[in-house]
Amino acid sequence: MRVIIGGGSGFIGQSLSQLLYRRGHKVTVVSRHPGESRITWDEVSKRGIPACDAVVNLAGENVLNPFKRWTPQFKDEVTSSRIETSRILALAISQSESPPRSWILVTGVGYYPPSRKQEYSEESPGGDADFLSRLVKDWEAAGQLPITDHNPKTQLVRIRTGVVLGRTGGALPSMLWPFRLFLGGPVGSGQQPFPWVHIEDLCRLLCQTIEQEGSGGGILNAVSPSSISDTNSDFTQALSKALSRPAVVPAPAFAIRALLGTDRAVMLLEGQRVSPKRTLQSGFTFLYPDLASALVDLVKT
Ligand SMILES: NC(=O)c1ccc[n+]([C@@H]2O[C@H](COP(=O)([O-])OP(=O)(O)OC[C@H]3O[C@@H](n4cnc5c(N)ncnc54)[C@H](OP(=O)(O)O)[C@@H]3O)[C@@H](O)[C@H]2O)c1
Repeated sequence: MRVIIGGGSGFIGQSLSQLLYRRGHKVTVVSRHPGESRITWDEVSKRGIPACDAVVNLAGENVLNPFKRWTPQFKDEVTSSRIETSRILALAISQSESPPRSWILVTGVGYYPPSRKQEYSEESPGGDADFLSRLVKDWEAAGQLPITDHNPKTQLVRIRTGVVLGRTGGALPSMLWPFRLFLGGPVGSGQQPFPWVHIEDLCRLLCQTIEQEGSGGGILNAVSPSSISDTNSDFTQALSKALSRPAVVPAPAFAIRALLGTDRAVMLLEGQRVSPKRTLQSGFTFLYPDLASALVDLVKT
């Protein structure tokens, strides 16, 4: 199969590409920068996409980049890098002579309103709680395919992922060094839900969605089964155990707010209790269903 991946040069895209290559598929990345096995967003806008079996969008400015201040300009960049790229790919699919079987938009569980009590599955409402949930609503709407004669065979799948834990990118590498220096601890109260997924499980789920015929489209939550009850404190304890280091130095909420700004601090200081109900119903099995198994795998040398 040929798979086109928008933003495929990043943390999730590189892992996904490696898995797809290992399974005998071909990958073309859509990027802002030209290169081998790449096309640029400008080329897609002008000439459309090459014939393919699946399109995945992973493009997006890093929301938690601590080196970028949370200015209106940066917020616009965070929003447009997701919405414009999704719109460009949806339009290209709708205009393609041989449209792909699946169109997969990877968004986030930030769609669901932060809550310590409420439990969410794929059917739960959301999209209007805060900046992040409105972003996910608009991002998913931008991926909607315009109705044309060409695209009835393309199924849109929206994969809402939790915090992606991996060795080479995402949040985990920056969390490891305080622990290794005996400075690790919970973020804020530590009682906020912590929805997460191991990078290998996320890429396996994406692969299953690409390869499976007649998946039916719709929404899939990419979170481990234990995410329904895991808190930041559970994560901290599991990481402490995996690294054999104490976890006694908390990162206070005021410091997180000062560093990231209120909108972004919500992402660390609050969270959602999310279940992968429909993902499990699709027949997917998680290799890393709980924090202990995931973190032992990710911190081993
Ligand atoms: N990692 C997580 O824990 C997590 C959790 C929930 C949701 N997600 C979502 O999953 C997607 C992929 O995440 P990731 O961790 O792989 O991200 P990443 O490593 O930051 O990579 C994303 C890619 O997006 C492209 N990009 C960055 N800024 C852009 C901009 N301003 N305009 C257009 N393209 C831009 C870059 O590709 P080029 O430089 O080649 O253009 C980059 O390689 C993102 O949309 C993210 O919001 C991630």
